[in-house]
Amino acid sequence: MTAQILLASDPSAVAAAAALLRQGGLVAFATETVYGLGADAFRAAAVARIFEAKARPSFDPLIVHLASPAWLARVVRDVPAGAARLAELFWPGPLTLVLPRQPEVPDLVTAGLDTVGVRVPDHPAALDLLTAFGGPVAAPSANPFGYVSPTTAAHVVEQLGDRVDAVLDGGPCRVGVESTIVSFASGVPTLLRPGGVTQSQVEEALGAPVRVAPRTGVEAAKAPEAPGQLEKHYATRTPLRLLSSREPLVPPRGAGRVGLITFASPAPSGFDAVEVLAPDGRSATAAANLFAALRRLDTRGLDLLLAEPCPEEGLGSAIMDRLRRCAAGAA
Ligand code: TXA
Ligand code: MG
Repeated sequence: MTAQILLASDPSAVAAAAALLRQGGLVAFATETVYGLGADAFRAAAVARIFEAKARPSFDPLIVHLASPAWLARVVRDVPAGAARLAELFWPGPLTLVLPRQPEVPDLVTAGLDTVGVRVPDHPAALDLLTAFGGPVAAPSANPFGYVSPTTAAHVVEQLGDRVDAVLDGGPCRVGVESTIVSFASGVPTLLRPGGVTQSQVEEALGAPVRVAPRTGVEAAKAPEAPGQLEKHYATRTPLRLLSSREPLVPPRGAGRVGLITFASPAPSGFDAVEVLAPDGRSATAAANLFAALRRLDTRGLDLLLAEPCPEEGLGSAIMDRLRRCAAGAA
């Protein structure tokens, strides 16, 4: 099987993608964050194909995508006031809410948890597909488990082209890093993953600080609240080292062919390949370019990638989180 490429701007192509979902098929689709690998959330056999296609362990729960907040009651039992406020402000958009689930949601979607992650994506391809299909769609990022997420239809085809029925091409993803995940599983809103909505935006909306779940180390490894948030994730095959802010941008001696990920131009010389993430100095530009840049460097036959760090504020937190995990995967 080779995936059909369907153009999201063509209504008949969207209808064809929805029909595939109705038959229990797998459809990758554009969202504003990264491409998702979708299946009918209420059809366990279809959801099982997602895990198979990605070689994803079944303890890692999936995010359920909705066309509108009006669909929440189909998958969620209760929406606390704080979650309702976040949904109102940030949906459609790069925010996932973890909420108590309806019993009808298959265990495979939630990895057996009593909660489900939900979001309304902010991309016409995703919204048109959800509306045409008429029901919730479970979708992780459309990459093999552990690898860098896809931000174009070509990224999906390269790696999963023979395992999905169709790719709904909506162009390159505008945000470029995954959604921010906020859990309401306990009484205290908890940030499980930094992403497209910043921590300060969430805190401002809630009028209170959020708890930040540990992301790395022993504490994170034993934290049951964020299953699937493995330390080694988003990893390139080429080893990547994240520099400290004090280290100079020079290739280490004897390291072979070295690539650099940097934020601003002009890029330093001496590297075999360089990716400048934000020529305009904006962290939103850096986030949008990050995964495509990592993928390009990963095809260059390099021995080592060096990544320059960025300040951990705003979208910089999500960027540093992904770079740290990429470096842990290479270790
Ligand atoms: O931007 C995004 O969120 C993209 C697009 C496609 O929507 N999706 C995405 O999915 O990044 P994925 O599967 O790569 O990451 C989802 C993560 C899981 O690994 C897990 O950590 C967390 O969301 N998650 C999902 N449901 C959860 C739950 N019930 N409790 C805790 N964490 C959950
Ligand atoms: Mg993922």
